[in-house]
Amino acid sequence: MPENKEHTWRLKLLRSLDLIRVLDLERLCFSCPWTETQLKGAFALKEFQAWGLVREQRLGAYMSFYHLPPEMEILNLGVHPDLRRQGLASRLLGSVLQEAGKSGIHYVHLEVRVSNMAAQELYAKHGFKMMGIRKAYYPDTKEDALVLRLDKLGQIMPGQQ
Ligand SMILES: CC(C)(COP(=O)(O)OP(=O)(O)OC[C@H]1O[C@@H](n2cnc3c(N)ncnc32)[C@H](O)[C@@H]1OP(=O)(O)O)[C@@H](O)C(=O)NCCC(=O)NCCS
Repeated sequence: MPENKEHTWRLKLLRSLDLIRVLDLERLCFSCPWTETQLKGAFALKEFQAWGLVREQRLGAYMSFYHLPPEMEILNLGVHPDLRRQGLASRLLGSVLQEAGKSGIHYVHLEVRVSNMAAQELYAKHGFKMMGIRKAYYPDTKEDALVLRLDKLGQIMPGQQ
């Protein structure tokens, strides 16, 4: 039977010790990556969390958010360019949302570039809906951001809407 590569990745809570690996992935995934100073500051905040998918010390995907029950704000979700379209983002997002629902989170929101169709499709598959637009939100290109929101987490599971 062929190996299911997605399931060889292990979910891991990331700490400041993982900073270098997170920075590497940030630079590969985003046009405006978080800096070392920003990430160090974030890891020091009790409401900040970052989870990753790791295999043999390699960080394949990571997701960061502010956990402020009953709200959660997703900050970043990135998958290494060599590992895309293998279900890693979906697995990471699904796992984090499932745990968040159990820990008092009812609403999740985030901003995404209007041009980022891959991320918009991913979030739509997990039940996120468009709530509004922030004009010229991104400083690098002045691109607009879509505000996406997932309601009733923990009451309706993603995919059941
Ligand atoms: C967006 C991103 C996280 C998706 O990661 P991924 O691991 O490739 O996504 P998955 O394989 O889990 O795909 C899940 C679903 O998302 C959608 N999707 C993912 N990549 C897509 C693409 N390039 N085009 C269209 N839809 C896409 C599809 O609906 C896909 O389901 P399918 O494969 O059954 O069609 C990844 O492309 C990435 O890291 N991009 C750069 C960083 C970024 O834009 N992050 C989001 C900002 S918050």
